[in-house]
Amino acid sequence: MEILLDTANLQEIKLASKWIPICGITTNPTIICREHTNFFQRIKAIKNIIEKKQLHVQVVGNTWEQMIQNAEAILDNCRQEIHIKIPATYEGFRAMKELSDRDIPVTATTVYSPEQAILATLAGADCIAVYYNKMYNLNMDPQKTIWEISCIIKSSDKPPKILAASFRNSRQVVEAFLAGADAATLPYNILKEFWNNPAPAQAVREFQDDWEKEYSTA
Ligand code: G3P
Repeated sequence: MEILLDTANLQEIKLASKWIPICGITTNPTIICREHTNFFQRIKAIKNIIEKKQLHVQVVGNTWEQMIQNAEAILDNCRQEIHIKIPATYEGFRAMKELSDRDIPVTATTVYSPEQAILATLAGADCIAVYYNKMYNLNMDPQKTIWEISCIIKSSDKPPKILAASFRNSRQVVEAFLAGADAATLPYNILKEFWNNPAPAQAVREFQDDWEKEYSTA
């Protein structure tokens, strides 16, 4: 079971890395654009913070050649291990195969169906990013989709990890794990929901109060 953070914000990454045992960072073009900064510099800065932990960076481009060119630019500029995220589309499957043949870790992204997951697995993807809340918003069944993908890919030679992504709340993360996800990537505000629960905070306050009443010397 792995938790990753879906962000390119350095403050959030520093905070989360100090307190929570996250396994890495995922970004996408929208997340990077939100930071209004130099793309390559930001990727390097993230890697400096997380060191050996996984960093998944998404390519842009409409054709497989453009995606490969973009992946090469990311790897040349950063000179560290980076998981290249490729959309699970017709052009993307070809790009996935090219990169996995070169032993570059590939994460298939924008996955909404077992069919996409099958082709991504056959193309050599190491990770399949399934879009939980985006599916939910389309009246699809994200739990069933994750479960179906996990059943199908089990029989492949090198089963990829299921990385659930796109969440509206922490409960959806729990549901994704119950359905068979190996990992989940979530924005910092949803990670915060994991500990922002008033009930344990109240219980801890009561313990502390009782202790102080009995043992405080003041
Ligand atoms: O990084 C991919 C995914 O997490 C984006 O989903 O729903 O947060 O836009 P969303």
